[in-house]
Amino acid sequence: MTDPDLAATLALTGADATLRLYRDWAASYDSGFARDMQYNLPAHVARLFLAAGGGGPMLDVGAGTGLLAEHLRAMGCAGDIDALDFSAEMLDRAAEKHLYRTLIRADVTQPLTLPRRYNGVTSSGTFTAGHVGPAAFGPMLAVALPGALFALSINQRVWFDLGFDRALADLQAAGQIDGLRLIQVAVYGPSALARDPEHASDRASIVLFHAV
Ligand SMILES: C[S@@+](CC[C@H](N)C(=O)[O-])C[C@H]1O[C@@H](n2cnc3c(N)ncnc32)[C@H](O)[C@@H]1O
Repeated sequence: MTDPDLAATLALTGADATLRLYRDWAASYDSGFARDMQYNLPAHVARLFLAAGGGGPMLDVGAGTGLLAEHLRAMGCAGDIDALDFSAEMLDRAAEKHLYRTLIRADVTQPLTLPRRYNGVTSSGTFTAGHVGPAAFGPMLAVALPGALFALSINQRVWFDLGFDRALADLQAAGQIDGLRLIQVAVYGPSALARDPEHASDRASIVLFHAV
């Protein structure tokens, strides 16, 4: 299939629709969307995670085809990375790259049947419209070791609408996270303008914090 337009992707409602979309998109995600839009978000998350001292073992949430792990490896990160995604077809593409220790098919908004074993939790492109909201914080924190570094991209379009501001403030107030920092980045590069003027200037916050 050709890439779905971003408007359809960001308007997804419900797990079934999301799974259908990524089933059909997996084969062309890297060579179409990511290349044509100069999709820089995974590189930003990788760079900021490593600059903040992040390391393995890591859980890459909504790992998709593995673009974030590609950037982590290219930047010299040698630690173990596990991929978590609920699309089997996206994980199949990630598996072909041989970057991940384990591929975990799961919904991150539900309790995860994983031990508390991660020193790092990363995510790019998954906290956005039509995708995952703050409900994922509980399951992610439950598998993170004390002191684990989180680096998550959160699209500005959903920052207030989905309540990420309140959810992070509540986690801080409850003493579940500390050291919260936000760094704003452009999601796409200049060539996105020709393909999708409506989304070309999208911005995201890279949220960095430590599990307590
Ligand atoms: C825009 S893609 C981002 C993929 C990759 N991180 C990247 O930056 O290229 C979003 C990914 O989140 C996954 N996803 C969406 N909802 C999810 C959920 N509830 N649990 C786990 N994965 C989910 C999708 O299957 C898809 O692979």
